Amino acid sequence: MNRLEHKVALITGSSSGVGRAMALRFAREGASVICADRTRDTSPVGFEDDKTATDELIVKQGGKAVFVSCDITDRAQIQNAIRTGVAQFGPLDIVCCNAGLYRAGHPFHQIPDEDLDACLNVNIRGTWLSSQAAAAQFLRQGSKGRILITSSSSAIRAYPYQAAYSMSKAAILNIVQSMGLEYGARGIATNAICATGMRTALTRPGADDETYRAAQTGKIPFGRWGEAEDFANLALFLVSDEADYINGAHVVLDGGETLSSFNVSAEGVPF
Ligand SMILES: NC(=O)c1ccc[n+]([C@@H]2O[C@H](COP(=O)([O-])OP(=O)(O)OC[C@H]3O[C@@H](n4cnc5c(N)ncnc54)[C@H](O)[C@@H]3O)[C@@H](O)[C@H]2O)c1
Repeated sequence: MNRLEHKVALITGSSSGVGRAMALRFAREGASVICADRTRDTSPVGFEDDKTATDELIVKQGGKAVFVSCDITDRAQIQNAIRTGVAQFGPLDIVCCNAGLYRAGHPFHQIPDEDLDACLNVNIRGTWLSSQAAAAQFLRQGSKGRILITSSSSAIRAYPYQAAYSMSKAAILNIVQSMGLEYGARGIATNAICATGMRTALTRPGADDETYRAAQTGKIPFGRWGEAEDFANLALFLVSDEADYINGAHVVLDGGETLSSFNVSAEGVPF
């Protein structure tokens, strides 16, 4: 408890899934949380039992949070989210550039331009703008800071029928390296989490498809999909003081999925 006491954290995509799990977890550890999302509503197709808005739930649980409407593809809206949060809670310590979307379902040569544009615009440009605004804010404050970018295991290995999404998640790993290099000397750490499939609104169609679910689960030595809380636990470590020497890292969170192209049974037999 209280690993983030007196810290102020801004999280994009905080209304659902991974962003919501981080917001709730950070708040329980004492952080004041700026919940930045396009919508305050928790996704109806997500796996959350309680659909109370994230900021409202945090306050109900005794924490501190504010919701700011923010589309990460709009620089002015990101700056407004930072301004509003800082006015309420004070200087920022942590920014999680997490909001993103998923596009899949077509072989490479048939991926519609709309899917490509959506991935370029939200996953790359939106993450770019959020990261830029975060770095600028930490420099303005003259303070240390933690920037955590949500990438994907698809950034480091191929998955079928999702090349535009995978490419966008790979691109943002490069942002992490540039920022880690340029701002490390000022005490601003930038890291990424490369996560495999986690049960959220984003993966609901795959999770509900028995064949797909079984195929994906079979590739994970731990034998289960990730949960948003698994992500939040790692994120908490990476933004806490305990991660004081970690910068520019791409941390894989996948139950061992990317270790090998072999599937291995519970008895250790490859198949
Ligand atoms: N769920 C997975 O399996 C998985 C795996 C690896 C990476 N990720 C990444 O995790 C991040 C969060 O995904 P999730 O699984 O929690 O999905 P989700 O759909 O549950 O949540 C995404 C949230 O981002 C918000 N959002 C989307 N576009 C936005 C925009 N332009 N501006 C502001 N907010 C916006 C949505 O409103 C939503 O609240 C994404 O970047 C996704 O690519 C997810």
